[in-house]
Amino acid sequence: MSEGREAFAGGALRSAAIDTYDDHRMAMCFSLAAFGTPLRINDPNCVAKTFPDYFARFAAVTQAAPVIAIDGPSASGKGTVAARVAAALGYAYLDSGALYRLTALAARDAGVDWANEAAVAAIAAQLDVQFLEGDVYLQGVTVNEAIRSEEISAGSSQVAALPAVREALLFRQRAFNAAPGLVGDGRDMGSVVFPQAALKIFLTATAEARAERRYKQLIEKGFSANLPRLLLDLQQRDARDSGRSVAPLRQEADARLLDTTDMTIEAAVNQVLQWHREANKTASR
Ligand code: DC
Repeated sequence: MSEGREAFAGGALRSAAIDTYDDHRMAMCFSLAAFGTPLRINDPNCVAKTFPDYFARFAAVTQAAPVIAIDGPSASGKGTVAARVAAALGYAYLDSGALYRLTALAARDAGVDWANEAAVAAIAAQLDVQFLEGDVYLQGVTVNEAIRSEEISAGSSQVAALPAVREALLFRQRAFNAAPGLVGDGRDMGSVVFPQAALKIFLTATAEARAERRYKQLIEKGFSANLPRLLLDLQQRDARDSGRSVAPLRQEADARLLDTTDMTIEAAVNQVLQWHREANKTASR
């Protein structure tokens, strides 16, 4: 067993990474320990020989805490809305896009080509990541800015199209689901990662509105920006995210549409909270 570096600051529980040695018994046995400890099980696919959907079934049994799944295209504001909804409800927040960004960054730093599926998936499975008080650490170093660069944005969209990479990140994302609840944002929160989510939202805005928002953010931070270029980048990323064969970006049949083109962030947050209250009322009837 290799000990992870994701120990809770000041808490009694330490997280750990479990090597499975191609033995399904290792994966299944240690999955039970995940009830009390944030565990990462390396190569969880070794269960395939005896129980291919073990982890999907396991998640259905263990994920009792409510999940709000917010999916949508890049720069739609879903991250800001999701984080504020999580804070308002006292829930944990999962920025799943950050995991794809971290994978792209770690692969680039290791000199691994983003098209090399097996090598990038191995990096995704071993990512040494911490999310602490709004900061993201990769191997103990803060990478908040580095994962948001245009280069890594493009790289994350490339690695996210690789099935083995998505598989490697699945278990890690599900581990975020704990009481009292979770708000997750990404592209496949409601369809693949948390299909049991009590509330699913597809949060979007026109590409023009999203490009304009990104432009304003960059200018406010003192960066130079080119609006037509940003619009083109967004359109290319949308096309790649929605055209890929695994977990393509789209509104699921059971997801509510929230078009924020003409909405403030506050109005979008309030709408999600209202839907959440309604979903709770229906569930408790
Ligand atoms: O949300 P974001 O812009 O930080 O996501 C970065 C990239 O990762 C984006 O191109 C789509 C991809 N992604 C994904 O495929 N599935 C997710 N759940 C989250 C992000």
